Amino acid sequence: MTQSASRAVIVQPGGGFDKVGFGERPVPEPGPGEITVRLRANSLNYHDYAVVSGLWGPSEPRVPMSDGAGEVEAVGPGVEAFAIGDRVVSTFFPTWLDGTPQVEGFATVPGDGIDGYARERVTAPATAFTRAPRGWDHAEAATLTTAALTAWRALHADAGLKSGDVVLVQGTGGVSLFALQFAKAAGATVIATSSSDAKLERLRGLGADHLINYRADPAWGATAKRLTGGRGVDHVLDVAGPGTLEQSMEAVRVAGHISVIGILTGVAGPLPLVPALIRQIRLQGVLVGSRSQQIAMIRGIDACGLRPVVDSVYPLAEIVDAFRHQESNRHFGKICIQI
Ligand SMILES: NC(=O)c1ccc[n+]([C@@H]2O[C@H](COP(=O)([O-])OP(=O)(O)OC[C@H]3O[C@@H](n4cnc5c(N)ncnc54)[C@H](OP(=O)(O)O)[C@@H]3O)[C@@H](O)[C@H]2O)c1
Repeated sequence: MTQSASRAVIVQPGGGFDKVGFGERPVPEPGPGEITVRLRANSLNYHDYAVVSGLWGPSEPRVPMSDGAGEVEAVGPGVEAFAIGDRVVSTFFPTWLDGTPQVEGFATVPGDGIDGYARERVTAPATAFTRAPRGWDHAEAATLTTAALTAWRALHADAGLKSGDVVLVQGTGGVSLFALQFAKAAGATVIATSSSDAKLERLRGLGADHLINYRADPAWGATAKRLTGGRGVDHVLDVAGPGTLEQSMEAVRVAGHISVIGILTGVAGPLPLVPALIRQIRLQGVLVGSRSQQIAMIRGIDACGLRPVVDSVYPLAEIVDAFRHQESNRHFGKICIQI
């Protein structure tokens, strides 16, 4: 078997922006069931930020970034799903192919427990990738692995979204914007929140039906409920955790559904159990999704023709600047890396 090497971003143990440099990783010829991908783009998520910034730094030198898109460069024996030149996008859980959740935590996740995709080439099992949506460029495709699949799984697999449902999305990060777009594509009414009036106007442009500035209106949960005529919203995608769950529970209808997705305001806090009990709320923890859910999502994207919101694209050499931009919270939508 011959093998070459790929240029790669490497984060040293413990993480931190001063621990980010370049190195090499081997690229073996693809074996049975494997493909070699020429990676062209990544996208940033809060989870990647935690690894790279040192919040949840790696225990050994690590190639960061869970979201990678590019084209197939070589195909190993027995691979029928892909051909050379196919445009592909990585999966968050290379070992969770189908069915109910199979994995706990991040040990198998590229860019965290194993090396990720901030590099030029990778040889991996073909099942660690799916095809990309038709007509999307690589940066757009790289937005799907984490943010989009989390939103898709929350709405379609967990919440059982139907036309006419009311969905509440929080803030203007990657997960929330995809949730807004998927909900509108499915015929739902969307209530969207942001800390910024300028960002709220952009949410309106994406089709949000009702807008709330969560900084100006700390009781935004009750406001959202009023906007539904007092019934409450069907599904909330909660991305901020302890600082938002109480208001999410104010907003939701009897027997409504809350996806517990994010921890932007902290990792622990009091949970008001009485409203959870008396309103029979379904609280569902979410950790991205399976490969088959990603395939279903991409089929849905091809059918409805939506495009992701890309805030900015940085060259790979400026990956730390991209994370600083994310940290500044000036972004609207996905920050991407071009490789
Ligand atoms: N469980 C999973 O599978 C999964 C997958 C992906 C992400 N996540 C988590 O979901 C969260 C968001 O991730 P992301 O990648 O979408 O982040 P991001 O793109 O960095 O989004 C950050 C946005 O969240 C909004 N925000 C911050 N604090 C908020 C608050 N108190 N209330 C409402 N919105 C607030 C802000 O919007 P405005 O500027 O408009 O106020 C901010 O722009 C993170 O905690 C991340 O770890 C979880």
